[in-house]
Amino acid sequence: MANETVRRKRILSGIQPTGTFTLGNYIGAVRNWAKLQDEFDCLYMVADLHALTVRQVPADLRKNTREAAAMLLAAGIDPKQSILFVQSHVPAHTQLGWIATCNSQFGELSRMTQFKDKSAKHPDNVNGGLFTYPSLMAADILVYNADLVPVGQDQTQHLELARTIAQRFNSSYSPTFTMPEGYITKAGAKVMSLAEPTRKMSKSDPNVNSFILMTDDKDAILRKFKRAVTDCDGIVRYDVAEKPGVSNLMTIYSVFTGKDYDAITAEFEGKGYGDFKIAVGEAVADGLAPIQGEYKRILADKAYVDAVLAEGAQGASRIADRMVQKVYKKVGLLQL
Ligand code: TRP
Repeated sequence: MANETVRRKRILSGIQPTGTFTLGNYIGAVRNWAKLQDEFDCLYMVADLHALTVRQVPADLRKNTREAAAMLLAAGIDPKQSILFVQSHVPAHTQLGWIATCNSQFGELSRMTQFKDKSAKHPDNVNGGLFTYPSLMAADILVYNADLVPVGQDQTQHLELARTIAQRFNSSYSPTFTMPEGYITKAGAKVMSLAEPTRKMSKSDPNVNSFILMTDDKDAILRKFKRAVTDCDGIVRYDVAEKPGVSNLMTIYSVFTGKDYDAITAEFEGKGYGDFKIAVGEAVADGLAPIQGEYKRILADKAYVDAVLAEGAQGASRIADRMVQKVYKKVGLLQL
């Protein structure tokens, strides 16, 4: 029992394998995941089942899933320290997912803004999975009794549902699930589009100059930053409301150089945006270069990636299967 009091908090997070990660995914999520490993017991998941809520080309999904895992490894997720796995490799997620769905109210799911956005975006494929996706996400979290869930702003409503389900289940049956808390990182939590800096950077943006991909080469990175939308007052100063473009570039620059906003303002005083944008591009290209090198090396060794994922699935299942058994018993499913 003494051990219990010193148990490190458990973290679970997931990312969908919908194509090469952007700089936004890296700064907002993946970079922080790597940092959390020293302090917490971490489980990181490639959420391939979630990706099926929109139509996927099977070969692409397979490829994107392995690539996502390779990129997480390249970005510093250490499989000796953390459990890295693919969602569909751990059946407990869908098993608890059904129980979570049966403990989600139609009204609650109907209110999810992401559901409303996505159904508007794909009116020809408003499928049941898109609707119950937050219940599956709740199961992803609750099946590990995760204490903390690093998520972006757009996922806080889903996390809130996970808490509602946990609470509902605990009071209908008996205390079972840990109440998960969001773990929202402040600095650089949200990277904006380079073309429309009031919108989030997204790889589904038809304008390829609006986002940086983790695999972009130096030329592409410099070119995209050169074209980034700023403003006309010519002063490098952090002010999200008045200067969203410049502020976004400052955030990115700050992440890669460790300099704070005042230091950045001082550095570019009396210089134009041209110099500033080149400096941001250089910092990003230099910062991504080692990750890109690792990514290439790791991806070339599919057997290694697959071995990591196989071991991750085992480690995750060991925790999750026990929870499913416990829950199945509590809800009255016949045990043999
Ligand atoms: N829904 C998340 C996204 O689209 C990914 C995800 C799936 C997730 N399951 C999760 C994130 C569990 C945190 C915890 O970004």
